[in-house]
Amino acid sequence: MEKHGSESYFVIGEGLLTESDDGRDAAGPQIAALEAAPPFRFSRMGPKGVNRQLGEGSHKKVANEMAAGGGGAGQIPAGFTYLGQFIDHDLTFDKTSVMLGANISPAALLQGRSPSLDLDSLYGAGPEDPESAKFYEADGIRLKMGKAQAAGGFPAMDGHDLPRGAGSSAAEKRKAVIPDKRNDENLAVAQTHLAMMRFHNRVADSLPASVPASQHFAQARELVTKHYQWMIRTDYLPRICAATVVNNVFNSGRKAFEVGVSATDIPTMPIEFSVAAFRLGHSMVRQAYDWNKAFDDGDGTLDWLFFFSATGGNLAGNPTLASNWVADFRRLYEFKGNLAVSEGKFNRAMRIDTTLVDPLKNLPPETFGGGAGIPFDDPRRNLAFRNLRRAKMVKLATGQQMATFLKGKGVNLTKLTKAQIRDGNNGADLSLLTQSQLDAFLKDTPLWFYILREAELNGGKLKGVGARIVAETFHRAIEGSQASIVRDPTFKPKFGPNNTTFSMVDLMLFAFEGKKALLAPLG
Ligand code: HEM
Repeated sequence: MEKHGSESYFVIGEGLLTESDDGRDAAGPQIAALEAAPPFRFSRMGPKGVNRQLGEGSHKKVANEMAAGGGGAGQIPAGFTYLGQFIDHDLTFDKTSVMLGANISPAALLQGRSPSLDLDSLYGAGPEDPESAKFYEADGIRLKMGKAQAAGGFPAMDGHDLPRGAGSSAAEKRKAVIPDKRNDENLAVAQTHLAMMRFHNRVADSLPASVPASQHFAQARELVTKHYQWMIRTDYLPRICAATVVNNVFNSGRKAFEVGVSATDIPTMPIEFSVAAFRLGHSMVRQAYDWNKAFDDGDGTLDWLFFFSATGGNLAGNPTLASNWVADFRRLYEFKGNLAVSEGKFNRAMRIDTTLVDPLKNLPPETFGGGAGIPFDDPRRNLAFRNLRRAKMVKLATGQQMATFLKGKGVNLTKLTKAQIRDGNNGADLSLLTQSQLDAFLKDTPLWFYILREAELNGGKLKGVGARIVAETFHRAIEGSQASIVRDPTFKPKFGPNNTTFSMVDLMLFAFEGKKALLAPLG
């Protein structure tokens, strides 16, 4: 079963931190024996949060409040929510899951289980790898795409669904044939994955005939990866994080995470990022979207987006995506001119704050690998509860500990006051906590909550602790990638309007040939 998040964390220097996933086990982590071949490599950026974890009663109350709905409207185009989810899966993808054992050298094993922004969730282990060859066309260069089937009066549409059809049973055939099945967990992330496939195929097509066949894939992949990293650094990151922090980290270097390591050393993934900071995306998710011409005016609900995927749902029982559900990307990213839609049709993400939309209180159990028997309103289905509990499992540092830690590393930030953490700005209400629970919460605030409160008090953009953790982790993940714009400062994008600009809109324009008929095939 493909699922989000890890049930156990191999933390460098600490071993395997794990616990049973019964949703009620408040026991601390058990340190299991080190495995000979370590799984995905996590690390700890800051101190351990020993004796600073809150009780399950507090977690339940806070999680209920966080996932009660409400919260602020945001300004970030909604496409960036699912771009963020796609990026998360790229960062946390364990490439060894698509490699054949016999072909893995120890170095490749280590690399494959390390975070980097090199699109291995799209490429798997590459066309030469016997397990990953199935993701590619017969030329070994282009990625295979799928066909959405005719539905709702719209024709079948080639190249508008993920590839499917492997296996023997109907359920198997429905599954997307992509390296990371998490990218078929909801329709918005699935269509984002598809856009990335198209981008790769277009870049591959654009290479001159003089490129030798043996180099074709590698050259295309390098160009795609560097453009993707450029877009993340200049478009995605400054939308979610204070731009001053992003610029400071990329121009002057890291202060807190893997400082002074050799750029080509294999990076690790800090649990402060994975278990707290980058889960910020959960607060950006909307309950409903003006999805496309057929599912307009909020008819594209989150529940339907799960349903029309093959991991979070079952594609409505069909073998492929119904064509009336193909995305209208003009409603998700801000295009200009004749590709722009009116503000009334445009979808913006929810503000980054301490609230989640109500459906995330009752996730489809398939999204976290849970069994069908988990009842409605069980805390295990509440994403906020899962996040808080996961932090406790790994004894994550609190917000206050991380603020002190980062300040000690020379990071310029202002700690939140207790009143700010308590009151926020139109976010989660903590008044259901008893006085002693509240006192403990304000003293030892779970890092995820702390970071979201920081953003909530900053107009919906990360600052302080959150901005620093996110910017430094991205910087390291780009630096340590095999193709890297940090290690190659001479790189300039060539698929945007000029050689310093390459935004997500530019990526989409290139991927979909600038054509309305492809970006919004329903019209
Ligand atoms: C509808 C959209 C989404 C759903 C249903 C979802 C669901 C989940 C679930 C169930 C987990 C595992 C929780 C646990 O047991 O620890 C998880 C983990 C995580 N999510 Fe999401 N998520 C969504 C969107 C996002 C977005 C937009 C981002 C970031 C921008 C994000 C970032 C993360 C991160 C960093 C983790 C932990 C690391 C990992 O993926 O291994 N998620 N998510």
